[in-house]
Amino acid sequence: MGILSDLLWHLQLILPAMAANGAPVVVLRYVKNSHPVDFNLKFLDGRRLLGDGKTWEGVTSGLVAGLVVSAIIAIFSQNAGFITLGILSSIGALIGDMAGSFVKRRINMPRGAPAPLLDQLDFYVGALLLLYIAGVQIRLVPSIILAVVVLVLHVGTNYMAYRLGLKNVPW
Ligand code: CTP
Ligand code: MG
Repeated sequence: MGILSDLLWHLQLILPAMAANGAPVVVLRYVKNSHPVDFNLKFLDGRRLLGDGKTWEGVTSGLVAGLVVSAIIAIFSQNAGFITLGILSSIGALIGDMAGSFVKRRINMPRGAPAPLLDQLDFYVGALLLLYIAGVQIRLVPSIILAVVVLVLHVGTNYMAYRLGLKNVPW
């Protein structure tokens, strides 16, 4: 595969993950009663397993958004296989994001505290890892290039959300 078709392949794999990771942030603004994924349980260290930033409503909205994006990719590429790949990618993203929160709680960071790189890439690594485990062709160079794109997009969208008054801080 050439680098461009390689990049396109990885982009098609990762777009559902980006939707699954982004949807909860928007949807939870409109949900009054949310339910934490960790059922309020605490870990051995006495702190929350994941914390209030990971909710079942968020997980559900992430799966729905990931599925919608997968369907769009499947239609445009005329390849139904992208539905399965997109679902895997979305589940991996949500697990990766929760793994990130698990790590943050263990090092005593409160919910919402900034953890540079971890906050932006946990979902991405989770998605690629689950796809890889499932036997999907994942290459290092396009993965790294898209990791940089994900980082830049994160900084850009957060700054925009700040300028639009949706966030209090530009990061
Ligand atoms: N969210 C959710 N469920 C998820 C992921 C995200 O409800 N599985 C919502 C929460 O309202 C969360 C927001 O999206 O506050 C932003 O997500 P994220 O930055 O991942 O969570 P944080 O609040 O920063 O919490 P943490 O410190 O655990 O990362
Ligand atoms: Mg956060």
